[in-house]
This record gives sequence, structure tokens and C-alpha cells, in this order.
Amino acid sequence: MIPDKAPREDVLYAAGDLKKEAHVPSFEKYKELYIKSIDNPDEFWGDIAKDFYWKTKHTGQFLDYNFDVTKGEIFVKCMEGATTNICYNVLDRNVHEKKLGDKVAFYWEGNEPGDESTVTYRELLQQVCRLANVLKSQGVKKGDRVSIYMPMVVELVVAMLACVRIGAVHSIVFAGFSAESLCERILDSQCCLLITADGFYRGDKLINLKVIADEALHKCRDKGYLVQRCIMLRHLSKVEEAEVAPLGSQSPPAKRPCPDLQQDPQRDRVKKTRPVPQVPWNPEVDLCWHSLVCVASEECEPEWCDSEDPLFILYTSGSTGKPKGVLHTVSGYMLYVATTFKLVFDYQPSDVYWCTADIGWITGHSYITYGPLANGATSVLFEGLPTYPDVSRMWEIVDKYSVTKFYTAPTAIRLLMKYGSEPVTRCKRTSLKVLGTVGEPINPEAWQWYYTVVGEKRCPVVDTFWQTETGGHVLTPLPAATPMKPGSATFPFFGVVPAILNESGEELEGPSEGYLVFKQPWPGVMRTVYGNHQRFETTYFKKFPGYYVTGDGCRRDKDGYYWITGRIDDMLNVSGHLLSTAEVESALVEHEAVAEAAVVGRPHPVKGESLYCFVSLRDGVTYNRSLEAQLRKQVREKIGAIATPDYIQNAPGLPKTRSGKIMRRVLRKIANNERDLGDVSTLADPSVIEQLFENRSCSDV
Ligand code: PRX
Repeated sequence: MIPDKAPREDVLYAAGDLKKEAHVPSFEKYKELYIKSIDNPDEFWGDIAKDFYWKTKHTGQFLDYNFDVTKGEIFVKCMEGATTNICYNVLDRNVHEKKLGDKVAFYWEGNEPGDESTVTYRELLQQVCRLANVLKSQGVKKGDRVSIYMPMVVELVVAMLACVRIGAVHSIVFAGFSAESLCERILDSQCCLLITADGFYRGDKLINLKVIADEALHKCRDKGYLVQRCIMLRHLSKVEEAEVAPLGSQSPPAKRPCPDLQQDPQRDRVKKTRPVPQVPWNPEVDLCWHSLVCVASEECEPEWCDSEDPLFILYTSGSTGKPKGVLHTVSGYMLYVATTFKLVFDYQPSDVYWCTADIGWITGHSYITYGPLANGATSVLFEGLPTYPDVSRMWEIVDKYSVTKFYTAPTAIRLLMKYGSEPVTRCKRTSLKVLGTVGEPINPEAWQWYYTVVGEKRCPVVDTFWQTETGGHVLTPLPAATPMKPGSATFPFFGVVPAILNESGEELEGPSEGYLVFKQPWPGVMRTVYGNHQRFETTYFKKFPGYYVTGDGCRRDKDGYYWITGRIDDMLNVSGHLLSTAEVESALVEHEAVAEAAVVGRPHPVKGESLYCFVSLRDGVTYNRSLEAQLRKQVREKIGAIATPDYIQNAPGLPKTRSGKIMRRVLRKIANNERDLGDVSTLADPSVIEQLFENRSCSDV
């Protein structure tokens, strides 16, 4: 339960001036609203829904659900009977009803300082309508899936919203994923069209995105699946002329001047002083974004969708190694991300908000695209890296745009902390009001540095706990209402009812530690795993019937504060990105030299966790540095750079129980060089342990 009064000891309070204008100005107000959200969700969410446009209103109760597998199929339905369109709500409503057409939606800041552009709500609406018409003309219909594989450019938002406008379901694949991962996601979602770009720079490194996308499409074809169209945006290469090869023609695309591009506000935003990407072109499939968009109409009637129509699929790691297509639906997600954005960042119309995540992850979906746009906010959309060209970049951007609300990951904070306070204090940062973190537990030291050095103790830190599956924040402070404890995600958001269970599934009261679960749905919770409802039920609802199981461990202290202790399944969190050990293991065993692999996490000072891989080789194969490099490359190619192993060690034998189960607990100790292994009486062959410790030291990289 949430205490009646906020504690006075061991907590930090937000500065007084934030409270003056805050939506939720006190702990008492938070508690009052929280109780209303649980006791009377129809009224609580009904009031919020009044601010949105509904083509038809919902009938019946706000939420209908079953969370108990023993009582039948799991389902969540929100606002049944209502029809709406999110694109209409985040763009047309802002432009026409709220008169925000001239307001900046995004300040785009490129990888290279000086590369920049601005897009207003009106311009965004025009671009979205044009692309929506293009998609329609290419045969994309309501319910069709469209894969998007793009860098952090405004057109990525345009592509998402164009899908949503016509009722198509987007499946964004983070542009750091490999061709193999993209192919796997395209096949699983059976998408009809891919939207990509020529390439982009990450710091000094050119990423030839179209080359990778082509490789993925080839792999799909080899597996018997044809993606019919691929629309390519020229981000780095020239757009004065656009390819207009008719589909099916074998000749190289003819160039045609694109007059309307002269008016494109995004044109010339990248200074073309660096090598441009290679652009392989398949005339049977490829289409040029610019040539299509510049002749498309700016009028596009939105497709009115049912509340529970699919909105998007976003893949997240699953413990079996096969990514899960998390499916979110229209109305509940819209209300939830709009409300969490407004209250957790205490959004005010004069704010300039900046979330440093990539749109390819859920944080970008909910808190770069949908949440901020639903509130008519002005955001920074950043393509680059926190350390490029130097480690002051973030704070220079904060000053350049007078950013007021700033949201980043603990891994970025820990990385920048290493360089000391000078690169931060060199910049003014006087505009900052609220700081946020997401993605992994934040250690109190990093929290204090963020609060003290970056925010100069003026800005509350909102440590937001949530998941791809939850759609939006579920445990989080509200900046003017919740006294902070460094490292705690504090209390539930409105509509969310957490509990802590022991191994037998009993709810623990008061201070306790165990499995973090949720007892009832909130509007933004996922509805299913795309194409596999059974996997949805098994993963989240089977272990403890009646509860949504997060997969995270959690502690509740004497004041009722929740502290996430980390994953308690076979998932690793590397730099705020979830990876399943099984996924990395299967990439390793695909190498002909590897007979068996076991991957565990090892604490890392910046990334949170690093990947430590044990590999048993096939008979006759010798372990050496060259093989190690090949294995590293193999994992990068199969999954992507985020999964690159930090450590690989030769493991002639793995510690197993008599029934053949690998004892990961023991491997974690070995990876950490901890000799106290605990109870190893179930080990089938204890002699493997000494050998693993011996092999250890020489494999550190
Ligand atoms: O383990 C938790 C951790 O990230 C997981 C969700 O990862 P993903 O679906 O990729 O979404 C990340 C962005 C929302 C959770 O199960 N996690 C996320 N936020 C926090 C966190 N752990 C501790 N504190 C957080 N604030």
C-alpha cells in the first residue's frame, strides 16, 4: 500500500518552484488520484479521454479483462466500441483544434554538430499525409504490417505516423540490428513493405543501412518470403534528383528532378562533406521516398480504427532466444503514454523536452513519438552519440535548445560520469527542470551524480521503471509529488497495482523482497505476442495465475518504496537493452567449431551488465584468438553490435546437474572470479570447476 504521508527521513524533495505549476503538486494529491484511478477507473480515464478525439464513443466499462489463466484465455480490452486514430489525435487535433500548427514538433540535431533542422506540427502533418498516400498507392491496407528500419531522423516519425494514419501496423527494427535480426522480424510479422534509408553516421562510423536491408530482404527471399516493396529515404546522399525507375524495369533508375524537394524543410540538413553510403538498387522492389512523396497529395483522411485494433508490433528478447512481437493496441496505449508523459515529466506547454533513446526501442516509441506529440510538445530528436565529437555534446544540446525536461539511460550517465564534472559544468544547463532515467536499475552513485552535477540539486530525478510490454511507465516518481530515494522507482503510476510474491506465489506484505507482479491491467499493457497468444500467456501469466509477471525482482522498504533488483529470468540487461542468454548462445553454437555455449551476465561499471560466454568446442578444434574473434563477429552478424560478447572463454566442460541442466549460478560466480560457489552438491562432475577457473584469466579482454 502507498503510505498516507510521504516519509520525511532519507528522502529528497523537489525544489519548491516546481510545485507551483505542477499537475500533481503533492504526495497527498498523488495518493488521492491513485485511489480514484483504482476505485473508479471509468471516471479517472474517462476524464482524460475527453481531451482526445473519438469518431465514435466507447460503450460499457473502461477496462474489461481476465488475468487468470485458470479461468480461461487472458485478454485486456480498453474502451470497446470507440473508434479513433492516433495520428489524427497527435497531429490534426493539435494543428486544427489546438492551433499548434506553427509550434515546433521536433528540433532535429544530427550526428555532426551543425547538422540540424526543424519541423512544425503543420509540416509534420503534411509529410505524414503524403507518405500515407504513398503507402496506400503501394497497396498497403488497414491491418497490413510495415517494417521500418531507419536512423534517428524526422522521417522515422513520419513513417510511423503514416502507417498509423491508414491503420497499418508498424514494426520498427532498431537500426543497430543485423540483417539476420531484421529478416527474422520481417518473417515473423509477415510485413508487405520495408521503409529504410541509405545510411547514417554513428560518430565517425558510416552505417550502410540499405546494404544491410538488402541483405535482409535476400535472406527473406531465400526463405521463400517476398517483401514486395522497399522505400528508401536518401538521408546522406543527394536528393535533388530522385530515382524514378518503373517497377520491374531492369534498367538503372532514371533520374528526374524533384521540384517539390526544393520546399522540403528537411532538405540540406546534413552537410555533405563526408563519404556517402553505397546504395544497391533492386528495380523490382526498391522505390525512392522522395520521388513518391513529392508528387503525393497532402490530404489523407485517417482510417478510423477500433480501440483494440493493433497499433504496432515491437520485438523484444524472449527467454527461448526467439524475439517476441509485443503487440500494442490503439486507444489504451494512446491514453496511457499521453498521461504518463504529461504527469511523469510534468509537461508544460513552454517545455523543450529531450529523450535520448532511439525510436527503435519502446522508450522512443512512447516518449519520443506518441507521448510528446499527444501533448503538443516540442522535442529534440537526436541522431548522434553522447560522446561525439566530445563528451560535452549532451549538455551543449541542452543549452542550444534550452531543454527543460531531459530523459536518458543510466548507462549514458555512468559513461559520462567517468569524464568528471568539467564537461558538464562547462555548459550552463540553467533551463533544466526535471531529469529522468529508464532502462535499468540506476546505482545510487550515478543517481547522485546526475542529481548533483547535472541538475545542481534543482531538478528532481524520475527513475521510471517499465518495459516494452507495459507500454509506458508503471513504477515512477512524479516530480513535484514524490520524495525521492536514489535508486528507487518509488511508487505505482495511476491504474497500476503492484505486488511482491514469494516463490510459492504468496503476496508479501510490508518490507519484503521477491517477484514483481501486477494484479490488474492498465490501459497501456500489451495485448498479445503477435501470432502467438499462447506464448503471451505462458511467458507472463502462467507462473503465478492471476498476475502479470514482470520477470524482475523487487524489494519494498519500510516506507513502501519499490526497488527493482534486476532480472530474475535468463535475460541480461546490457546498456539498458534486454538480451536473452539463449539468443546469444544460439548465435554461438551456429559456428561450426562450437558444440555448446552458456552465456551469463557479469557486472560492468558502465553498461550495467556485460556478456560473458563459455564455449565448449567440438572434438579436434583448438581454441585460439582467431577463433575468439570469429565468434565475436558471428554474434554481431546474427544479432547486432549490442550483443557483442565482452568475454569469451574456452570451457572444455560446463557445470551441469545430473539431469544435464547447466548451473548458470556457478558460471556467474566463475565469470566474476568468486570462489565461494555455494551449494554445488548437485554437480554431476565437480572437476570441471577448477578447469574453468584456470581458463578464466587468459580469456579476459
Ligand atoms: O529489468 C527491467 C529494466 O528493463 C527491463 C525492460 O526492458 P525493455 O523492455 O527493453 O524496456 C526498457 C525501457 C522501458 C525491465 O524488465 N528496467 C527498465 N527500467 C528500469 C529497469 N530496471 C530498473 N529500474 C528502471 N527504472
